[in-house]
Amino acid sequence: MRLLAKGRGADVFDIGDGRVLRRCRYEGDVAKEAAVMRRLRADGFPVPAVFEASGRDLVMERVPGPSLLAAMRSGDKGVVEASEIMLALHEKLRGAGILHLDLHPDNILLGPDGPVLIDWTNSAEGPPELDAAVSALILAQVAVGEAELAGLAERLLREFAPRTDAVTELKRAVEYRRANPTMTERELADLDRAAELVRHVTAGR
Ligand SMILES: Nc1ncnc2c1ncn2[C@@H]1O[C@H](COP(=O)(O)OP(=O)(O)O)[C@@H](O)[C@H]1O
Ligand SMILES: [Mg+2]
Repeated sequence: MRLLAKGRGADVFDIGDGRVLRRCRYEGDVAKEAAVMRRLRADGFPVPAVFEASGRDLVMERVPGPSLLAAMRSGDKGVVEASEIMLALHEKLRGAGILHLDLHPDNILLGPDGPVLIDWTNSAEGPPELDAAVSALILAQVAVGEAELAGLAERLLREFAPRTDAVTELKRAVEYRRANPTMTERELADLDRAAELVRHVTAGR
């Protein structure tokens, strides 16, 4: 089993035959997210096919392609195109009646048939505006941080946020992100500043 990626919440292994194993690092059951993924897949939403789900383990189709984040960093995708990809996925989610709640460029894989949305752990029901606000807030959190990606995140935020409704549910998005167990102290401290940035870039929209 070859370790393919180490995310914040899971380790992902290439297990051959075009399949990956995603093993959550926390206690939990993937049954719910597997059910959501299967339903979306049946509806034609671009999500990896699920083969097996039990406990912390999810076996799914491997999407052969870089993440949107990797494609942005290498210069293959610009912020305008990246924003359009995010907006199109949000629009499809609205049609499917489900929220992803972690939709950002590192959870979008650019497969041979187009962008595929992964990492469905947080999916839930609710107003689509909450999903848009969470996406914008995640970008803003990177933008106000000191990571090397801050500039890129801010440019993407400035493209994305004014083209959707990122403010109606922004307060709830902040509370939602505050409760996220994978957040660092520093990220929690910067959350209000990030929300301010979302409001700032969408002012006069
Ligand atoms: N179906 C897949 N095909 C190819 N790579 C994947 C797949 N699912 C996850 N990965 C890789 O594993 C990483 C972490 O998976 P993800 O579901 O986003 O977990 P985390 O919650 O840890 O972010 C992804 O960023 C991606 O690089
Ligand atoms: Mg992820």
